[in-house]
Amino acid sequence: MRILVTGGAGFIGSALVRRLIEHSDHEVLVFDKLTYAGLLSSLEPAAGSNRYSFVQADICDAEAVARVLQDFQPDIVAHLAAESHVDRSIDGPGEFVQTNLVGTFVMLNQTLGYWRGLPETRKAAFRFHHISTDEVFGSLGEDGFFTETTPYDPRSPYSASKAGSDHLVRAWGHTYGLPVLVTNCSNNYGPYHFPEKLIPLIIIRALNGEPLPVYGDGSNVRDWLFVDDHARALQAVFEKGRPGQTYNVGGNAERKNIDVVKAICAILDQLRPRADGQAYAKQITYVADRPGHDQRYAIDASKISADLDWAPSVTFEEGIARTVRWYLENQTWWQDILDARYATQRLGVANG
Ligand code: NAD
Ligand code: DAU
Repeated sequence: MRILVTGGAGFIGSALVRRLIEHSDHEVLVFDKLTYAGLLSSLEPAAGSNRYSFVQADICDAEAVARVLQDFQPDIVAHLAAESHVDRSIDGPGEFVQTNLVGTFVMLNQTLGYWRGLPETRKAAFRFHHISTDEVFGSLGEDGFFTETTPYDPRSPYSASKAGSDHLVRAWGHTYGLPVLVTNCSNNYGPYHFPEKLIPLIIIRALNGEPLPVYGDGSNVRDWLFVDDHARALQAVFEKGRPGQTYNVGGNAERKNIDVVKAICAILDQLRPRADGQAYAKQITYVADRPGHDQRYAIDASKISADLDWAPSVTFEEGIARTVRWYLENQTWWQDILDARYATQRLGVANG
C-alpha cells in the first residue's frame, strides 16, 4: 500500500514510519510542517529507503494537501499531525484549534475530493485513519476504563480540539461515505519522545542535576504504552481494520506519575549513579498543579485485541528501562533540541 503519514516527523509518526520501512513493504510519504515538535533526525533510520519520501507542508494548506494526494496516490491517509502538548494548549489554545480542528477539516475535505476521483476498486479499499487520544473521554475516578462507547467529555483545550477533530472525521464518514477509522490511544513513551513530556523531561533534567517537577501530589494516573507497540497497532488497523470502526489502544500499564518518576530515578541510580553518590529521587520537587488536571486515564483495549489480534508486548518495567537507556545512548538527539532552546520555551505550567 501507499501510506501518507501526516505528522510523520513527530514522536509517534516517526516510530510508525520507522516500523513501516523496517517491517513492511508499504511505501510511505511523510507530510509534515516541521513545527518545533517535528524532527527530521527522528526519521534518519528510514530516510535511506527508496520506499520513503518527505514533503514539508502545512495540513491547513488545502492546495498543498491536494497536490500531495494527487502526486502520491495514497491507499491510506494516516492522520497524526497535531499540536499534542496539553500544557502548551493551556498557554496558547489558538494553534490547537487551527491545526487540530481546521487542519483536520482541510485533510478531510481534500481527501474526499481525491477519494471520489479514484477508480471503484481503489475507492473501496481506501482508508482515512485518524489517530486520536484517550483524553477525549475526560477523566476517570478510581475504577473503570474507557471503552469505544464511553461518552466524550474533553476538559482541556488540547482534548477539546482532538474531540472536535474526531467528530469531524466521523461526520465525513457518515455524511459523505468516506471510509474512515479512528483510534484513541493512551500515553505513549519511548525513544525520540520530545523532552517537554513527562518521561523524557524527567530523564534529561535528572541527568542535568535539575529539579524534577511533579505536578500536584503526583497521584494522577496515566496508562503507559511503549510507542513501538502503538506503531504495531496502527499497522494492524491499516491492514485489517474495518472502516467506520473505532479502536481503543492502551498499554495495560497504569502508573501514578510519582511512581513513574521514582522508577526513572531508580534506573538512573543503577546505570549512571550521581557523582555525589546520592539518589536521583532527591531531585523530585512537587510543584503547582496543571489547571484542570485530569486525574486518571485507563483504556480497555479488548476490542482491538479480539478483532485485530493486537496486544501490548512491552511491559512498563521493560519499556521504561529501554527508554532510559536510549536517552543515555542518544544524547546528541536531545542535546540538539535543548541547544535550539525548544524545550526551554515550555516545560510545564509550574516550571516557568
Ligand atoms: P508530536 O507533537 O510529537 O508530533 C506532531 C507532528 O505533527 C510534528 O512532526 C509536527 O511537526 C507535525 N505538525 C504539527 N502541526 C502541523 C501542521 N499544521 N501541518 C503539518 N504537520 C504538523 O505528537 P505525537 O505525540 O507524535 O502525537 C501524534 C498524534 O497522536 C497526535 O494527533 C496526538 O494527538 C495523538 N496521540 C498522542 C499520544 C501521545 O502520548 N503522544 C497519545 C494518543 C494520541
Ligand atoms: O493520554 C494521551 C495523551 O498523553 C496524548 O493525547 C497527549 O498528546 C500526550 O502529550 C499525553 O498527555 P499528558 O498530558 O498525559 O502527557 P504529559 O507527558 O504532558 O504528562 C503526563 C502526566 O505527568 C500528566 O499527569 C502531567 C504530569 N506532569 C507532566 C509534566 C510535563 C508532571 O507531573 N510534570 C511535568 O513536568
